[in-house]
Amino acid sequence: MYVIVGANGYLGSYIKKAVLDLTDDELICVSRHIPENNEEKRIRYISCDISDRESVDQLIEELRKEEDVRIVFLAAYHNPDLVEKNPKLAWDVNVTSLSYFINQADFAKQIYYASTDSVYGESVDFYHFKESDPLDPVNFYGHNKCAAEAVMVHHGRNVVRFPFLISPSLAGKPHFYDRIVESLKNDQPFEMYEDSYRSSLSFDNAARLLVQLMIKQDPHPIVNVCGDKDLSKYDVGLLVAEREGLNKELIVPVRMGEISVEGFISKRATSTLMDNTLLKEILDLEYVDIFERPKRR
Ligand SMILES: NC(=O)c1ccc[n+]([C@@H]2O[C@H](COP(=O)([O-])OP(=O)(O)OC[C@H]3O[C@@H](n4cnc5c(N)ncnc54)[C@H](OP(=O)(O)O)[C@@H]3O)[C@@H](O)[C@H]2O)c1
Repeated sequence: MYVIVGANGYLGSYIKKAVLDLTDDELICVSRHIPENNEEKRIRYISCDISDRESVDQLIEELRKEEDVRIVFLAAYHNPDLVEKNPKLAWDVNVTSLSYFINQADFAKQIYYASTDSVYGESVDFYHFKESDPLDPVNFYGHNKCAAEAVMVHHGRNVVRFPFLISPSLAGKPHFYDRIVESLKNDQPFEMYEDSYRSSLSFDNAARLLVQLMIKQDPHPIVNVCGDKDLSKYDVGLLVAEREGLNKELIVPVRMGEISVEGFISKRATSTLMDNTLLKEILDLEYVDIFERPKRR
């Protein structure tokens, strides 16, 4: 039985799809707001607020009835600007509530936590961070994620570190990808940073790789799950335009230090790149593209 806590978000929607595609298992989807209609027979929805102990205890009682419970934990208060503005609330959701949940879910066969490249901080001279590198986040969101990772790892659970993820949204709310597409369809220019690099990956590939790691029952406590290529946000914009058959000329390169196009308030690393050698070894992969399915060796 797979369980996704935070199932209705951008990543959760793709993990749902990946579990249905890659396994024959049943799936419990958990979030505060559950959909009114459910046409998928293998999915059951349970409402739970992970920051409410009573609600978590009820969820745990339900999960205890299942066999071979494999949990993906995604629920988070994760907008870096809001985390900076409401640090106590953020810590409560991201660290304290996570810690309570995994302590109660001691019967689970697996628990995987979705972390981020933000734990590493700034990549100097295009350095690609390895899982064993020291952590040096530049904002409080990154510190929340470091603390959450420590809780997971010291409880014997698993962490995957994702980069900037981008795909059309399946979550009923537009993603950055959809904003680019909408702008280009309306013949509007879209400014994107040409000097901000990430090992970016689609939600689709990120979700499938995570589920494949779970199926493999890989013992490594932390794995970077990211693409091979160093892509600037501008490069990603060009790829989105190309995939959608839209006018690439409308993607306008701008520099992060000179202009703020994404409206960030809290500090962000200009570039954070990750090394995916471990991921490729575990899953026997040759190349991980941002959008195409990974190539096997
Ligand atoms: N997107 C990325 O590029 C990226 C990159 C690296 C890591 N991550 C990590 O991946 C995770 C998911 O990200 P996402 O982009 O999918 O975010 P998202 O779209 O905001 O999804 C988060 C989900 O968590 C649920 N949630 C939030 N607070 C909750 C609470 N108190 N109790 C129960 N459920 C709660 C929300 O649903 P309800 O509001 O219905 O409860 C939502 O479905 C986060 O931990 C994020 O840090 C994301």
